[in-house]
Amino acid sequence: MSKVVIIGAGGVGGVVTHKCAQVPDVFSEIVLASRTQSKCDAIAAQIKRPIRTAAIDADNVPALTAFLKKEAPALVINVALPYQDLHIMDACLAAGVDYLDTANYEPLDVAKFEYKWQWAYQDRFKNAGRMALLGSGFDPGVTNVFCAYAQKKLFDEIHTIDILDANAGDHGYAFATNFNPEINLREVSAKGRYWDHGEWIETEPVSWSRQFDFPEIGPKKAYLLYHEELESLAQNIKGLKRIRFWMTFSDNYLMHMRALQNVGMLGIEAVNHKGQKIVPIEFLKTLLPDPASLGPRTKGLTNIGCLVEGLKDGKPRKVYIYNVCNHEECFREVFSQAISYTTGVPAMVGAKMMLTGKWRGKGVFNMEQLDPEPFLEALAKHGLPWQVKEMPVG
Ligand SMILES: NC(=O)c1ccc[n+]([C@@H]2O[C@H](COP(=O)([O-])OP(=O)(O)OC[C@H]3O[C@@H](n4cnc5c(N)ncnc54)[C@H](OP(=O)(O)O)[C@@H]3O)[C@@H](O)[C@H]2O)c1
Repeated sequence: MSKVVIIGAGGVGGVVTHKCAQVPDVFSEIVLASRTQSKCDAIAAQIKRPIRTAAIDADNVPALTAFLKKEAPALVINVALPYQDLHIMDACLAAGVDYLDTANYEPLDVAKFEYKWQWAYQDRFKNAGRMALLGSGFDPGVTNVFCAYAQKKLFDEIHTIDILDANAGDHGYAFATNFNPEINLREVSAKGRYWDHGEWIETEPVSWSRQFDFPEIGPKKAYLLYHEELESLAQNIKGLKRIRFWMTFSDNYLMHMRALQNVGMLGIEAVNHKGQKIVPIEFLKTLLPDPASLGPRTKGLTNIGCLVEGLKDGKPRKVYIYNVCNHEECFREVFSQAISYTTGVPAMVGAKMMLTGKWRGKGVFNMEQLDPEPFLEALAKHGLPWQVKEMPVG
């Protein structure tokens, strides 16, 4: 029986709040805090259990520390934006509270994400006797746990991993992003990168593509991107030779993104507009549909998983470990599309692992460093069943 504070009342925050509310024996008290309290209140109004709400600017560390000391939760679930990660980690340390997030820190003024900033908190969390769990969404998150499961149960040696993320959903808009537009467009328009025999190899943005045949979705073209879990998995999966990340995009999405990039609308530096400073990508976010509003319009399936190749009992083996999620079913359950759902459920499950003592430790952890089995059992029980498919080798 534990109290949690959830920070962030966007698409993912809504799902996390619903899912925590479904497990009252673990999450006995839930406080939802975000910059705009009315968004917290709108989520709380969808849920039968009482959810307390609060207005908080997570970038104000003294105010957030005072708030956490007053509330004294066992855990903070951070589903605000990656820019807030370090501030929330600082406040958790000052208030003596455990920490969980779904996306690694990214500075506002550099479109680059790396774990180095959060891994630098290792000693501070260890010395304070507190635990921080990084990247407990789907990718990163479940994908890391799929790899840990492959290492523990399915392979003696893992040689290559390809993480595949397909969204075959349709929201009917000419252009919209399924999670925060700023974070999404910064990620997709950046250079690609993958890890091969100990070296990082850079590619031009969305310049490499490959066709994959996704179970229940069918063949789709996916593009090589850099994604944060590559950094920790390259370190933590023993004997790994190569790891890459692929995501599907429609031609329509890429056409819009390239046009916006070409005219400077993805810029992250302020420009002068009629005497006012405007950051183009922040203005674009104001114009685009709010991802939290896509739920009632989105139809179709997502398929996210890990294609793992290596050796088992001296023989080559290749498997695809994956989940398929249905946008409309997510909406029926928690008023959300599947992208927020597939992020919010693992955030709740990661929190449940920490609060029930199945995942405990002092310091900063990536998901693959913890036992995959109790997490995967709970994941299936709470809405994201997963499967292992044997694939032809080679
Ligand atoms: N691992 C994964 O699989 C995965 C997948 C998708 C998303 N994510 C991550 O999930 C997180 C949430 O995504 P989302 O789509 O829900 O984004 P979103 O809809 O934009 O919601 C973000 C929320 O954070 C709040 N917020 C922003 N700055 C804040 C601050 N300084 N203090 C307090 N609250 C603040 C926003 O408040 P306002 O409403 O006032 O702006 C908003 O409610 C992001 O970090 C994203 O990268 C992870």
